[in-house]
Amino acid sequence: MSELLRVEELIKHFPAKKRGGLSVRAVNDVSFTVNEGETLGLVGESGCGKSTLGRSVLRLVEPDSGRIFYRGTDLMKMRDLRKVREKLQIIFQNPSGSLDPRMLVRDIISEGPRIHHRNVSRQELQELTGRLMREVGLSAEYAECYPSELSGGQQQRVSIARALALDPEFIVCDEVVSALDLSYQSQIINLLEALQTERGLSYLFISHDLAVVRHISRRIAVMYAGRFVEVAEAGELVKHAFHPYTRLLLRSIPIPDPQCGRRGTAAISAGSVGIGQAPQTGCAFADRCKWARASCREEEPPLREIAPGHFAACGLV
Ligand SMILES: Nc1ncnc2c1ncn2[C@@H]1O[C@H](COP(=O)(O)OP(=O)(O)O)[C@@H](O)[C@H]1O
Ligand SMILES: [Mg+2]
Repeated sequence: MSELLRVEELIKHFPAKKRGGLSVRAVNDVSFTVNEGETLGLVGESGCGKSTLGRSVLRLVEPDSGRIFYRGTDLMKMRDLRKVREKLQIIFQNPSGSLDPRMLVRDIISEGPRIHHRNVSRQELQELTGRLMREVGLSAEYAECYPSELSGGQQQRVSIARALALDPEFIVCDEVVSALDLSYQSQIINLLEALQTERGLSYLFISHDLAVVRHISRRIAVMYAGRFVEVAEAGELVKHAFHPYTRLLLRSIPIPDPQCGRRGTAAISAGSVGIGQAPQTGCAFADRCKWARASCREEEPPLREIAPGHFAACGLV
């Protein structure tokens, strides 16, 4: 598998809200690669920096520093991103918020090509829209609808069709199923997987829900307070999680076996880590870690390879 995207030492801090406060280290020295046709899952609780990372990779949020190589070219050094933007797309959690309520579905889907390819004819746009709607499983009658006339799942299909319109290679999927009912969630996941197979797409698939991420991802990165604390292949991560935070996330997944009886305890409540409040020295997780030693509060553990292809940032390695 060849490498499509390589991110090195990416940093994005936000200024402190209060004077004299600490700046928010939303993305704090993150490196990773995504191969062609691969899904990298990104999981972590609300506020840990996932969206900032996803947007920074596309420079929709301007990183403070770092390198972002797309097919070998450093996006951080590019002045005009228009040409690569077509190939790098993003889909958001809340389709009703990201779809213009005054535009018809067909115009939303064809907007990208209309803007980027000025000489494309009306008929070509119409054909493209029809093709994309079929591809994402939307019946043609919705072309003349407004987003508000569609269900959440259908709206998310419109977002996907719009992202596909410029024939991308890489899509950041930021909590794309989090706002949907369970039945729609699996439909959208299945659709994304089918599109990946047909088009050879690569995804950075972001969710606070490890149960969702583990199904679609080949590899998973676990983020805590702006850093990757564990990265491994999905099966390996679930079976041999090393980092105490990953184990905490795993315990909060509902257990699918009904005989087991025990449902997940939802140990991770939204927003329970204000990353502004995470300790500024040593391991950011130390305050919540029952195994933390004095040394954990002194030195920030680097991400180290603890088994082939399995990385963890923990002082207990
Ligand atoms: N534009 C911004 N200005 C200031 N702080 C921000 C901004 N965007 C995000 N943050 C802060 O950065 C941290 C990470 O946010 P975010 O990337 O949205 O996390 P996640 O997607 O994992 O929930 C949070 O503390 C959030 O408040
Ligand atoms: Mg987010």
